[in-house]
Amino acid sequence: MRLKEMTAVVTGGASGMGEAMCYALAKEGASVVVVDKNVDGANEVASNLIKEGGKAICVKANVQSNEELDAMANEAMDTFGRVDILVNNAGARVIKGFLEHTKEDWDLMLGINLSGPFYCSQAIVPKMITSGGGSIINVCSIASYMGRPNRCAYVAAKSGLLGLTRTMSIDLAPNNIRVNGISPGMIDSPFNQRFSEGEETGSAWANDNLIGRWGKPDDINGAVVFLASDESSFITGSDIKVEGGWLAARARVGEESIVSD
Ligand SMILES: NC(=O)c1ccc[n+]([C@@H]2O[C@H](COP(=O)([O-])OP(=O)(O)OC[C@H]3O[C@@H](n4cnc5c(N)ncnc54)[C@H](O)[C@@H]3O)[C@@H](O)[C@H]2O)c1
Repeated sequence: MRLKEMTAVVTGGASGMGEAMCYALAKEGASVVVVDKNVDGANEVASNLIKEGGKAICVKANVQSNEELDAMANEAMDTFGRVDILVNNAGARVIKGFLEHTKEDWDLMLGINLSGPFYCSQAIVPKMITSGGGSIINVCSIASYMGRPNRCAYVAAKSGLLGLTRTMSIDLAPNNIRVNGISPGMIDSPFNQRFSEGEETGSAWANDNLIGRWGKPDDINGAVVFLASDESSFITGSDIKVEGGWLAARARVGEESIVSD
């Protein structure tokens, strides 16, 4: 077990990739703090982890609330005595044209996807310092690297999150805290259900990457456990793309048949 005696906090742990990560981190021996605004979902995940012999608690917190995140960090510390791993995974997306985005949409997207990881890290980092250091993993996106249609606020937030990741890695290095990103591609979670089940998008988006299928929430687990563990002790300020080559494939479209000038 690669994460024995460690405690991991996972935001958005009630669903999709966050839920999958909670099981993967627990399987490697970590005690898990399942954080979500959806307390019933988080409770179900934590209960399952305990039934399977792991250590877990669920905490209801909105990542836009400093008060709730501070209380969550204290509860994690009081329960498990240390915090070693933080996965800033909670996220949400608005899909609308540029002019249709309201101020509320903009504030919500920046609030959940960018301010959320900042607030949560500010709550958890003092606990990590007390614990001797740690690993923070920010769940970014292919949208951190490319524009995407009708997602101006989401793309701005996820691009910002990659920048925040790099800067946090510098600022927190003296505290023995590594900070990295994971950028998923098209993952078939509840977040994307309407597209994975969509008549056109279901197969078209599966063939948009080089592997030729939708990602599954479990596809992220290897990268999360690796970045959380000491196996990645020389990696910080970096980002692992888990997108089936989606970003590489962009450069390939229409060029496959060109073999000489
Ligand atoms: N699914 C994809 O294809 C994909 C691709 C790239 C990046 N991502 C990112 O991966 C992360 C996880 O996405 P997912 O696909 O598992 O989504 P999901 O919708 O299945 O799960 C997201 C979880 O975050 C929680 N959450 C949302 N807002 C919250 C808030 N304000 N406070 C606390 N919890 C909140 C939800 O309740 C839910 O449990 C997100 O950051 C998303 O932007 C997803």
